[in-house]
Amino acid sequence: MNEMVGTLAPAAEQPDREVARAPSASTQELIHRDGRPVPPVFEESPYRFLGDGDIAYDRYTSQAFFDLEMERMWSRTWQWACREEHIPEPGDWIVYDIGDKSVLVVRGDDGEVRAFINSCMHRGTKLRRSATSGHSSELRCPFHGWTWSLEGDLKRLPCRWDAPHVSEQTHGLDPVRIGLWGGLVFINLDRDAPPLDDYLQPLQRHFAPYGLEKRYIEMHIEKELFCNWKAGIEAFIENYHTQETHPQLLTANADEGTQYDLFTPIVTRFVSANGMSSPHLEEALGENELIESMLIGARSMVDDDLLKVGEGESARIVLARVMRDVLGRVYRTDLSRYTDTEIIDVAQYSVFPNMILFPGLTLPALYRFRPIGNDPDRCLFELLILREPPADGPTPEPAEPIRLTEEQSYAEAGLDPFLAHIYDQDTGNLRAQQEGFKASRKQGQTLLNYQEARVRLLHQTLDAYLDGETPLRFAD
Ligand code: FES
Repeated sequence: MNEMVGTLAPAAEQPDREVARAPSASTQELIHRDGRPVPPVFEESPYRFLGDGDIAYDRYTSQAFFDLEMERMWSRTWQWACREEHIPEPGDWIVYDIGDKSVLVVRGDDGEVRAFINSCMHRGTKLRRSATSGHSSELRCPFHGWTWSLEGDLKRLPCRWDAPHVSEQTHGLDPVRIGLWGGLVFINLDRDAPPLDDYLQPLQRHFAPYGLEKRYIEMHIEKELFCNWKAGIEAFIENYHTQETHPQLLTANADEGTQYDLFTPIVTRFVSANGMSSPHLEEALGENELIESMLIGARSMVDDDLLKVGEGESARIVLARVMRDVLGRVYRTDLSRYTDTEIIDVAQYSVFPNMILFPGLTLPALYRFRPIGNDPDRCLFELLILREPPADGPTPEPAEPIRLTEEQSYAEAGLDPFLAHIYDQDTGNLRAQQEGFKASRKQGQTLLNYQEARVRLLHQTLDAYLDGETPLRFAD
């Protein structure tokens, strides 16, 4: 990689830091405290000390570093381009853009999903404009009318007599690799990339109970942010900022004990327990106060009998019972198969470079962060809510995306006001951080060893890609 920008200090040899944990109760202690069943995947907690050198600010601000990411990382990593529900019928298509690159994802006549470079094989015109979707029986270029089948085969070109050097063999659309998982269509611009199945491990096993492929898009918000794409995703993969940025969450989130799991250089997770007050709160809430604080907005839907705290019951047990009932009724589905921790706690997975996924039911969200154009200072954050379909009726159509400017609140797109306020709090931080990167006379950001390990790993994985490696597993 280019040594001039964004180099990382090497990992230090300090094995004692492998076990550094908060003095307060850990997620593992809290989710086992009530004696309720806990899915085995929640008990997996691989972690390693990754070093403690500063992360250079020019990684977030330099156009040269951004260009290097485009050339060596975005061109070689798997990225989710759309949900399968975006292109359910033969002839449905959607455009996925990353920087200057543009990919056309198409459902063929045979029902198969394919992807092609979104550029005409005649003189390069984009076959479909950026950020659009639609339906057509064939793929026809708007400039001179060259036309391909949905499978990418050249069917027609006007004045064929003048192009004896053009054939189906030489001018079929340029195919892009795709992979399917969980109802998501992934693309990879690298013809030699390892299979998606290898890339996503162990996500498949962890998400097996949740039927992600059956869920539908209930809400899709696109939010323009003034920050580098990495700063955008990094603000969501640590729970350390909650004590300062989201103090309203401290009443019922054990933020300090949050568990951070580094499964591979690609897949990481945090698990955070709810229904317990934060140790950062001066005075912990009582069980009844905890229950009330977590039912904001849903209190009127709750049967009073379910709220009674029985002998030996904690707020967590009551909350799980209540949420199972409320969510089950709202979404007309039986949630008895889920454990308490799956119902009320937060498990949040990330897949390098830009995807975050929540399997849970209270916030079944999917995130994506992408640069806006080639601007290191701006990114597009997409927030999708993927709901379980009703057991007794048709699956709703996917929601259309609603685009918000930086100044607009998430509430304007219909997000619950309590949640919208939380996301709005993050927006302000991100602009301040991007501007602070440039104002600083310190050369880089200093990270916490455990709580911000996912941030550091993102940079180490990125560096491996910039060095031409494909880091799917840790070396040792
Ligand atoms: Fe596409 Fe000419 S540029 S047909």
